[in-house]
Amino acid sequence: MIRSEGLTRRFGAVTAVDGLDLVVERGEVFGFLGPNGAGKTTTVRMLAALIAPTAGGAHIGELQLGRDNRAIRRRVGVLTEAPGLYRRLSARDNLLLFARLHAVSDPSSRVERYLRLFDLWDRRDDLVGTLSKGMRQKLALARALVHDPDVLFLDEPTAGLDPEASRRVRELVESLRSKERTIFLCTHNLDEADRLCDRVELFKARIVALGKPAELKERMYGRRTVIHFGDRPQGLERALDLPFILDTEWADDALVVGLSDPERENPILVRRLVELGAEVRYVNELRVSLEDLYLDLMEEHDA
Ligand SMILES: Nc1ncnc2c1ncn2[C@@H]1O[C@H](COP(=O)(O)OP(=O)(O)OP(=O)(O)O)[C@@H](O)[C@H]1O
Ligand SMILES: [Mg+2]
Repeated sequence: MIRSEGLTRRFGAVTAVDGLDLVVERGEVFGFLGPNGAGKTTTVRMLAALIAPTAGGAHIGELQLGRDNRAIRRRVGVLTEAPGLYRRLSARDNLLLFARLHAVSDPSSRVERYLRLFDLWDRRDDLVGTLSKGMRQKLALARALVHDPDVLFLDEPTAGLDPEASRRVRELVESLRSKERTIFLCTHNLDEADRLCDRVELFKARIVALGKPAELKERMYGRRTVIHFGDRPQGLERALDLPFILDTEWADDALVVGLSDPERENPILVRRLVELGAEVRYVNELRVSLEDLYLDLMEEHDA
């Protein structure tokens, strides 16, 4: 659905985006993650035909960046850092204006639906300039959605939103995915990215890593079983002579064991531990957060 080849944008001496090759499939939630200044917003602005690339190109479906910019802008919904709402118009009029621009059928009811969805219906006649920051963010989200776009670019959609509104945005993303919409999501909320995204790309002007969150974690850390004991048994790891154990280490009173096939090897491991006289209290899989992975990969990248 989204495809870029060598997409590049320079601002004077700064190369914000450097030869980005990207493929995002229809119906995919694609997380685009990276530190401040990595070039995420610049990428979104290029892909949504809001600014021109310095080099390279991209397609949104069959539409070609540069050649079909007007059609691309109609086809996509964009929430950017500077949403460009009209501060002197009411919340409702902002959405109506945009809905009419996109020739949405029955704009009034569509606008009402989104104002209600984001709890803005009671404030519909208030000027945007008088709304709170989070309310403006929700209005900008409504504007990105009101014409039911095929492709949605969300640049930090939950930044500044309260927990309830953040959850509503996440539910919305899930429901759009089930309707085969394509979602390009930039976020610094890595827990959100972990929960929502089919694939993530870690990015800093160029690609650092790309894949499904679970696969990236496994590639980086392998699979690890954590075993908690009653009393920390002395010398246990030396007695553990099972050939499939890749490595062991203690984390407080728990033994962390690297395995390649834990579903098969855990029962054998636990049986052996019990034979050795250990009191096994509980066993779980070591959970690595996307934040851990992100920080380690970025550190590796910068080294
Ligand atoms: N209009 C502009 N003029 C000059 N430099 C720019 C412009 N827009 C972006 N840049 C530069 O391009 C680089 C990438 O910026 P960009 O806004 O794309 O980063 P980002 O990944 O969205 O960061 P953040 O997480 O802070 O939003 C930065 O070095 C920034 O200073
Ligand atoms: Mg940004």
